[in-house]
Amino acid sequence: VPVKPFELVVFGATGDLARRKLLPSLYHRYCDGQIPKNSRIIGVSRSDLSRKDFIKLVEDSYHEFEEDPDLDKHCFAEFASMLDYVSIDVTKKDADWTELEARLDGSAELIRIFYLAMPPRLFVQIAQGLQGAGLAHDKSRVVLEKPLGKDFASADEINEGVGRVFDENRIYRIDHYLGKETVQNLMVLRFGNILLEPLWNSRAIEHIEITVAESIGVGGRGGYYDSSGALRDMVQNHLLQLLCLTTMEPPASIDADDLRTEKIKVLRALKPVTAADVKETTVRAQYVRGQVDGETVQDYLSDVDADASKTESFVAIHTEIQNWRWAGVPIYIRSGKRMASRRSEIVIQFRPVPHSIFGDSTKVDPNKLVIRLQPDEAVTLWMEIKEPGAGGLRLKTLPLNLSYADNFTVRYPDAYERLLLDVVRGNLSLFMRRDEVEAAWRWVDGIIDAWEEVDQRISLYPAGSDGPDAAHFMLKQLGDAWSEA
Ligand code: BG6
Repeated sequence: VPVKPFELVVFGATGDLARRKLLPSLYHRYCDGQIPKNSRIIGVSRSDLSRKDFIKLVEDSYHEFEEDPDLDKHCFAEFASMLDYVSIDVTKKDADWTELEARLDGSAELIRIFYLAMPPRLFVQIAQGLQGAGLAHDKSRVVLEKPLGKDFASADEINEGVGRVFDENRIYRIDHYLGKETVQNLMVLRFGNILLEPLWNSRAIEHIEITVAESIGVGGRGGYYDSSGALRDMVQNHLLQLLCLTTMEPPASIDADDLRTEKIKVLRALKPVTAADVKETTVRAQYVRGQVDGETVQDYLSDVDADASKTESFVAIHTEIQNWRWAGVPIYIRSGKRMASRRSEIVIQFRPVPHSIFGDSTKVDPNKLVIRLQPDEAVTLWMEIKEPGAGGLRLKTLPLNLSYADNFTVRYPDAYERLLLDVVRGNLSLFMRRDEVEAAWRWVDGIIDAWEEVDQRISLYPAGSDGPDAAHFMLKQLGDAWSEA
């Protein structure tokens, strides 16, 4: 079903995110017939480009970044007719907005959306600029890319400043993980099946593990990354969102406020990390030179072009959710760059059966549910099965495997394709509410403060490995281990 016609202004239109994700996503949605022809997409950035240059840049980006770079020429030509470009230097206090105003629809019939794919320190300034120029009318919406600040204080400042121009229900804070097919499937898996929910608690679950491993390094984003690190870049948003969806109480519906109210309860129940326990419950590390996919890659310091840095490219945390459902269940989360392979998964490790009827000599392994988010999307339940044969009774652990590739042949839309259209539809369910972002920062700030207080060391791990020994040691001390690929 096509959405209503809209005008979308993309700030940072020549930047990495716009070229890699936003513009190709809009092209796909257009060609799938979901974007009406009278919609407009206006790129804004500092570069002095003509409309024609911008269209060329969009086309080149598509070829550069899409896995299947076969562009439908006819469709692209139609899509391109919606594209426009305005050069504005929004970093200047006296930025001139008249050109943008001239290109926007004066009749206010189109849904007006401003997408800020810019560094967060500019969010408030842009919002004020839009207000000053009279461009942010009371129905327009704003999309804020992550990271939303670098700590609670800066996030609060952004939320206050942007909130003075746009009401909370017109602010779409993106976490693109929420737009991923398999992440949304988490809710269907938990609440569309009766089987799991009765077991989804501390009585049946021994621990929960969330891993988001990437094989890529910091790429061309060294400057941003080195001032951020894995905890702020990945855990504060993506991993905590995954944790919320995995552990929240059943919301009454998938409406934005029902869902977000349940997620925030999880964030508020997270056990704070303090200087007293930070050394035992967290590991931070940096990659050194190593081999990824058979190729030698350089160390973190060379990637960020620094002689020394205390920024982590890997983080592992042992935490707990302090509520009735989860008290006492260890939650292990980790994320890192330049790891052996790209792998995001959630592992639910069940407890052993309370009593084995098979005798002491027969090993009964506990069940395990592995939700593989990317790549090779799948849900796998590891079960105990009798190994066929007339000899003694032997048990074998085998997977009950629900692989996406075996069941679906459709192309999975990129997370941004869904999220962009959700903004047009006015559906806030997959966007973060102010209090959610702030609760996540409070917890993360606690870890960063504790690291500083105890001067937590940075461990090292070779690029292409599964992280530092310290992360394995942390779980070993607890009698556990990270699940292997
Ligand atoms: C971004 C981070 O939010 O997510 C990047 O800033 C990271 O550092 C990326 O590489 C990972 O996203 P995906 O969709 O490739 O798992």
